[in-house]
Amino acid sequence: MQERPDNSKAVARLFRERFAAEPAVIASAPGRVNLIGEHTDYNGGEVLPIAIAARTWVAVRKAQAGAHSLAVSSNAEEVGDWSSDKRRSGKWWDYLHGVANGLSARGMEVPPVIVAVMSDVPSGAGLSSSAALEVATAVALSSLIGAPLSSEDAAAVAHSAETEFVGVACGIMDQFASALGRSGEALHLWCDSARFEHVPMAETVLIFDTAVPRSLRGSAFNERRRECERALELLRRDDPSLAHLAHATREQVAVSKLPEPLHSRATHVVEETRRVEAAVEVLRSTGTIPGALLYESHESLRSLYECSSAELDWFVDRVASVPGISGARLTGAGWGGCAVALGDESALRGAAASIVADYESRFRLTPRAWITRAERGVRVEQHWM
Ligand code: GLA
Repeated sequence: MQERPDNSKAVARLFRERFAAEPAVIASAPGRVNLIGEHTDYNGGEVLPIAIAARTWVAVRKAQAGAHSLAVSSNAEEVGDWSSDKRRSGKWWDYLHGVANGLSARGMEVPPVIVAVMSDVPSGAGLSSSAALEVATAVALSSLIGAPLSSEDAAAVAHSAETEFVGVACGIMDQFASALGRSGEALHLWCDSARFEHVPMAETVLIFDTAVPRSLRGSAFNERRRECERALELLRRDDPSLAHLAHATREQVAVSKLPEPLHSRATHVVEETRRVEAAVEVLRSTGTIPGALLYESHESLRSLYECSSAELDWFVDRVASVPGISGARLTGAGWGGCAVALGDESALRGAAASIVADYESRFRLTPRAWITRAERGVRVEQHWM
């Protein structure tokens, strides 16, 4: 996942082939991995993601008067057409449609458009391919209509497309990481206020996709959200001023009489937020993240939040004995998807091939591994006046 080709030219070519016209704007946005701070975003806690080297490119222009909005993708056969339908279709272009609706709802009326999409963010792996598509679309469309959004506003529009239109109850991390990522810097985001800072990061990251299908993830994710909401409600009986679960103190949770599994969930959320703070402090002075915090985070996700899997645990155990690898944990929602390991680039590269081979023979799955660093967030690639 390093130094991927700039697909601006390829997406322009796709646009020309399919629409026999030139695009007016091309924007691109990356996927993300979270270094630490898992299941804290929707609890008003802190997260520390980076934008990764894989990106999604979106080329757009206004459609002819009276024509439909149409979209093509290099990854999908079906051509999107959403002008005649106000609701979501369950198809890939809902992300574009949701963003266009979101802009219109903010008074930035989007006329019918034609769109071509090209992406090298693997979909379904937990690397936020949907956030990359939404954020790139928000920036491309807003530039097209002459009202370019700031990266923060693009993240907000993209997040509401995901939650309100597509209907996935995710937190704000993915869209903010895709929009605000910077090369060589991690994004420290406070999800209660969307306040953020960039922290220089020298780490190389190995991303390991377990190739476990995400069938379980949606429903289990929603169940955890409900458990956290319930835990907050119960804690508020003693402390009505508690705005978010992540704001509770360890002591508050420890002495609360929360029933299981709510007590475990709340303990994870509160301690994970403290781990983000500890990681940021060390990152700021050394450019690296203490591996022990990553292992603690994984252990908490495994035993308290119960969102790991045998495959993710295997990976984390396996890399723990590799010299030069400092730490590892599952990343994203869990229940399959990806894990990350940090450490020396040569150690990570050296270990990746044998880990992939061992994993294949043990789980009969075909995993993928990439090396990345912190990369740039959304950007306008080209804008023809
Ligand atoms: C998914 C969601 C994010 C976040 C993570 C867990 O990736 O989209 O908003 O909640 O899970 O940290």
